[in-house]
Amino acid sequence: MGLFSRDIKNMDDLFVHTLRDIYYAENQIVKSLPEMIEKASDPQLKQGLQSHLRETENHVKRLEQVFRLHGTEAKGVDCPAIDGIIEEAEDVAGEVEDRSVLDAAIIAAAQAVEHYEITRYGSLIAWATQLGRSDCANLLKQNLEEEKAADKKLTTLAESKVNRRAA
Ligand SMILES: [Fe+2]
Ligand SMILES: [Fe+2]
Repeated sequence: MGLFSRDIKNMDDLFVHTLRDIYYAENQIVKSLPEMIEKASDPQLKQGLQSHLRETENHVKRLEQVFRLHGTEAKGVDCPAIDGIIEEAEDVAGEVEDRSVLDAAIIAAAQAVEHYEITRYGSLIAWATQLGRSDCANLLKQNLEEEKAADKKLTTLAESKVNRRAA
């Protein structure tokens, strides 16, 4: 999408653009999660991230199904927002020495990612519904539910032990 061209003419275009945005984001998350898993020390955190990596691979597949249903080619569009979140996470992780503090930093970064996904899926579901594409909305809702569950698990983990250990 060019800054001065007007490629997004209607709600359907906006839906497709945002679908491409989250498709790019999910693919970037698949690429960056292994490093986070590697750096995490807490076994529950490691295992939680590992299982969300598998879910994330499935999010990519569900998005490909949504593209298919919609009759649009599955491709991504640069998403500087997710790139920024991931880059910042890597920068901060590089600055932390203490293992417990590093776990807390990883949880915070992972939650920033989840919240980004949650906001995108929220809009996409609303727009798909508005466009009469409940078939697309249903698939997107499955991704959203897994993002919310992952976010909740991270909160529980942070509150139960990681942050206390890091303090
Ligand atoms: Fe996801
Ligand atoms: Fe996620």
